[in-house]
Amino acid sequence: MGGRIILGAGEQTWDGWRATQREQLDLTDRASFARFFGTELADAFLCEHVWEHLSLPQGQAAARLCWRYLQPGGVLRVAVPDAHFPDPEYQRTVQVGGPGPAGHPAADHQIVYDARTFAEVFTQAGFEVVLLEYHDPSGRFHAQPWSPEAGPVYRSARLDHRNAEYRAGRGPLGFASIILDARKPA
Ligand SMILES: C[S@@+](CC[C@H](N)C(=O)[O-])C[C@H]1O[C@@H](n2cnc3c(N)ncnc32)[C@H](O)[C@@H]1O
Repeated sequence: MGGRIILGAGEQTWDGWRATQREQLDLTDRASFARFFGTELADAFLCEHVWEHLSLPQGQAAARLCWRYLQPGGVLRVAVPDAHFPDPEYQRTVQVGGPGPAGHPAADHQIVYDARTFAEVFTQAGFEVVLLEYHDPSGRFHAQPWSPEAGPVYRSARLDHRNAEYRAGRGPLGFASIILDARKPA
């Protein structure tokens, strides 16, 4: 089963992408990938705000798994919360264990990445990494042009409704992610 695959899609659907849930493709379960793909490979993966639900070792193994099941030259576009987004309420929400109470969508957050530590997860797995959106340790935002057609990330400066004022040049970002492209060398 090839094609363009959303991992941990939840309620997300995008035209041209096949949404999968943990029950079909579990980033912590190599056998689920073997069952799903057989001898096929994905053309691309898209994964928004899922990696923070894995521990660091699980995230590193998941990166290797995606590398294994991606076509050479294919891209995994992946986004997570950003440890250097300078907004205390955001950091309270995305912190390890979430803000409480139990049952909050962030309650099982295992890790808060910054751009450097997140990029390393993918370079160590053999990917070439390009950071598309992130804050540096001083809290300064960096972005480079990226195409939603190649993988739409909603929680982005480009698309998120909370960033409309930012896009209009009238205010700061309302919500942020680290977004990167991890390319499997051709
Ligand atoms: C915060 S939601 C994000 C959902 C969707 N990607 C989005 O951006 O709206 C986290 C998602 O990660 C999924 N998830 C958690 N652990 C996973 C795993 N080991 N493999 C695949 N998906 C997982 C959950 O099922 C859930 O859908």
